[in-house]
Amino acid sequence: MRALAGVVGVVAVVVGIALFATRDERAEAGEPISQQMAGPDTTGAAVWAHLHENGYEEWATWPEKGEMYQGQAPHGAQLTTYLNGIAADALEDGEEEFPAGSIVVKQNYMPDGTLAAVTTMYKVPGYNPDAANWYFTKHLASGDLDRMPNGMEMEGRVPGCIGCHQAKADNDYIYTGELGG
Ligand code: HEC
Repeated sequence: MRALAGVVGVVAVVVGIALFATRDERAEAGEPISQQMAGPDTTGAAVWAHLHENGYEEWATWPEKGEMYQGQAPHGAQLTTYLNGIAADALEDGEEEFPAGSIVVKQNYMPDGTLAAVTTMYKVPGYNPDAANWYFTKHLASGDLDRMPNGMEMEGRVPGCIGCHQAKADNDYIYTGELGG
């Protein structure tokens, strides 16, 4: 009987290790990021839903910026920039890059205080190594994606966003403040 119990124990451990290995292999095989971490899929609709389901306007604002601070072109007269928990922790810990699942959300207001647009940068490992793996979106206040002059919706690897933000490549494509400090 003792011997049988021992065998059962060993089998349980081996099966446990095998299950772990399978999960790692699945992650490496490129399973959707949403199944590897608690982030939205890389679509404009999923990101917009995620922000609202998670009450992003209650998230931490960018340190020392607060709400409705003065912005510069092209984003708007007044800005509020929010960080999800992963991003806020990384900034506070002095990380030099935002980790997987970080979301930075910036609201752009018109001079009269009307919300004009909501832009996001969402860090998705492997999504776009040429642009620090940021997934970009720009939504209008209505929740529709904004469009480029050629009609393309502003979500994903948006050339205009990347073209300007890459000037800050040494700061993980981020303008609002220095990382690593
Ligand atoms: C011409 C340059 C330029 C373009 C184009 C641009 N940005 Fe920005 N972005 C900035 C600047 C400058 C800031 C800092 C905001 C400020 O203080 O005015 C910023 C800030 C941000 C932030 C807050 C995080 C950070 O980097 O500081 C997000 C999110 C963002 N931009 C998203 C976008 C998205 C999405 C697009 C494309 C639809 C875009 N940006 C296009 C210059 C640009």
